[in-house]
Amino acid sequence: MNAYVGTPTSRVDGRAKVTGAAKYAGEFSANGLVHGFVVEATIPRGRIVRIDTHEALKVAGVLDVLTHANRPPLADKDEAWKDEVAPEGSPFRPLYDDMIKFNGQPIALVLAEEWETAKFAATLVRIDYEQLEFVTDLEAERGSANEMDKPHKPRGDAKAALAVAGLRHEADYLVPTEHHNPMELYATTTVWEDGKLTVYDKTQGVQNVQKYLCSVFGKKPEEIRVLSPYVGGAFGSGLRPQYQVVLATMATLALKRSVRVVLTRQQMYGLGYRPMTIERVALGARPDGTLDAITHEAIAMTSRYEDFSRNDTGWAEQLYKSPNTHFAHKLVDLDVSTPCDMRAPGAASGVCALECAMDELAVALKLDPIELRLKCYSDRDQSEDLPYTSKQLRECYARGAEAFGWSRRDPTPRSMRDGKELIGWGMATGVWEALQMPVAARIVLTANGHAEVSCAASDIGTGTYTIVAQVAADALGLPIENISVRLADSTLPQAPVEGGSWMAASSAHAVLAAAEDIRQELARLAKAIPDSPLADIDMHNVTLANGMIASNGKNAAAVSIADVMRHGKIERIEKERLNEFAEDKSHARNTHSAVFAEVKVDEELGVIRVTRVVSAVAAGRILNTKTGRSQIMGSVVWGIGMALHEETQIDHRFGRIMNANIAEYHIPVNADIHDINVIFVDEPDQRINKLGIKGLGEIGIVGVPAAIANAVYHATGKRIRRFPITLDKLL
Ligand code: MOS
Repeated sequence: MNAYVGTPTSRVDGRAKVTGAAKYAGEFSANGLVHGFVVEATIPRGRIVRIDTHEALKVAGVLDVLTHANRPPLADKDEAWKDEVAPEGSPFRPLYDDMIKFNGQPIALVLAEEWETAKFAATLVRIDYEQLEFVTDLEAERGSANEMDKPHKPRGDAKAALAVAGLRHEADYLVPTEHHNPMELYATTTVWEDGKLTVYDKTQGVQNVQKYLCSVFGKKPEEIRVLSPYVGGAFGSGLRPQYQVVLATMATLALKRSVRVVLTRQQMYGLGYRPMTIERVALGARPDGTLDAITHEAIAMTSRYEDFSRNDTGWAEQLYKSPNTHFAHKLVDLDVSTPCDMRAPGAASGVCALECAMDELAVALKLDPIELRLKCYSDRDQSEDLPYTSKQLRECYARGAEAFGWSRRDPTPRSMRDGKELIGWGMATGVWEALQMPVAARIVLTANGHAEVSCAASDIGTGTYTIVAQVAADALGLPIENISVRLADSTLPQAPVEGGSWMAASSAHAVLAAAEDIRQELARLAKAIPDSPLADIDMHNVTLANGMIASNGKNAAAVSIADVMRHGKIERIEKERLNEFAEDKSHARNTHSAVFAEVKVDEELGVIRVTRVVSAVAAGRILNTKTGRSQIMGSVVWGIGMALHEETQIDHRFGRIMNANIAEYHIPVNADIHDINVIFVDEPDQRINKLGIKGLGEIGIVGVPAAIANAVYHATGKRIRRFPITLDKLL
């Protein structure tokens, strides 16, 4: 029955993407399209005393300059600005008032017939500020951290256990601010027709943006439709509505014309980022490598107006047995924009620190790092004392180690080399959650044997179009070419933002549910055919395959779907269903990985190359081994960026980001990426959901930075705890 699920099916949207037929938010057009260019604040905190737009308005082709003083009406209450994933606090409202909350804040929108005109006129807007005191330095403000989030309950007495531990390792690890740099810029194009607004937005959740815009602008649901058919990278940057969608909508309402607002790469640094976090980890162990105590305290930055937090701590509860634990996640309010989710938020940073600390402990204990992890291996989620629906992490260690050649590792630092380069081998564990959310899907089956599947979910490049088509093709017994998939339109059946690695399981089970209803309908029709060979079938025991509906068991018989529909005198069957997951709090649900990295370090220059990565992943059933492998490869590349390249640098004298561009904010390029080997470990899971799906979006990055840092230590004997590991830190 699984002709497609579990196979390396190519992306159904692949051709559209590589031929340019796929359109992104900033590429849609409309008659009389107006272009907007954003003017940003150049101070981190204060008030706009005067904003002079006269010179800008004089430029031929400029239509208007919107500021807080002349914008259309906006909602006032905090609640009206809260989107479905908003954190605690008072959301940012572009052009709302004269207050400056962060450097790079949008304070005016220049609107012109041409983009170049708007861009030029934006340079003529003059602003006088009253500047207020500000702080942007997390490390300097560390002492003012407030406890946040819901940390895991402490167990035992970690402080006392640490004090008497036979061996103790305690250190700070620092993960810097990292900005989202998707290929696609933040962009919105609005199309204004007869008082109705169609919004093409770069977002991970069209219904989230649609509800938000209706709330902010006091519109009825039928007055605003939001679409995002293709997304050029997101992974958190498009979870919340970004300010350009508000500005474009505002301009449309002011001018009664269609508007496009695309941010520049530099302006994107005024938006989402992974917050800089100081991670303090302490481990207390016995000489045999069993743990007595684990403490993990994270101190992360946030804005003054919102408490964004993703618990970085507590991941040890899923991985390592210890009778005594204590976890705390704290926030420091700074004069910056609110951070946001970035691939595996919480785990990417928190597990990075934990897994570096485990490596340091292994060195101190003179134990192989895998052996240490196996000594502490936990078969239960200790925080809730629950078993897992499945956990093949042991298998990940074994398969990964074998593929990597780990047994040939000489544990002594600086002992392996290749000419002028020192070789380092390091490993680390990854862990993430296996979540699922309410999602609905609609299937329309037509008599010509074609099915259209639709759902409001986005495909942020993760392969949703493809897996939805695969699941539908298998469930309806049709070739995948006969399935068309429509996604990311707010008028389609409900879906939350695509995030948290939950969309594969959630959308697949919505499709499965709708297909089940189609099958029942076909079975009912098949029974009703005069002299039907399926007259006595058990409605619940029929299969759809090869364009036929067939009864199973004895007296098996089949009728073509086309015949069934012809006899029933119907052209189409339409069914919409919400997915259903059994409520089950008796088991923990996680994905796991073991990551192995080889680095080569030029001894004289300190240049680090990640020459090999093996990532062995246990994530339940893999719906598509090709797009799944791509997911993990992309994650590994991002993990290499975290380990070696990415760092947003703020000049704290000005509270301003100094490397807001991809020349100075480094991300991996082709030359930085070598051999990446992805292994999917077999992990049948009958408990988590019908298809045994766990999701792959985020697990692939977790563990990668630590594996590389541990490899750098093994190569050089230098333990770098401040990321990224740039060459200057090795010299
Ligand atoms: Mo993901 S960081 O939930 O897009």
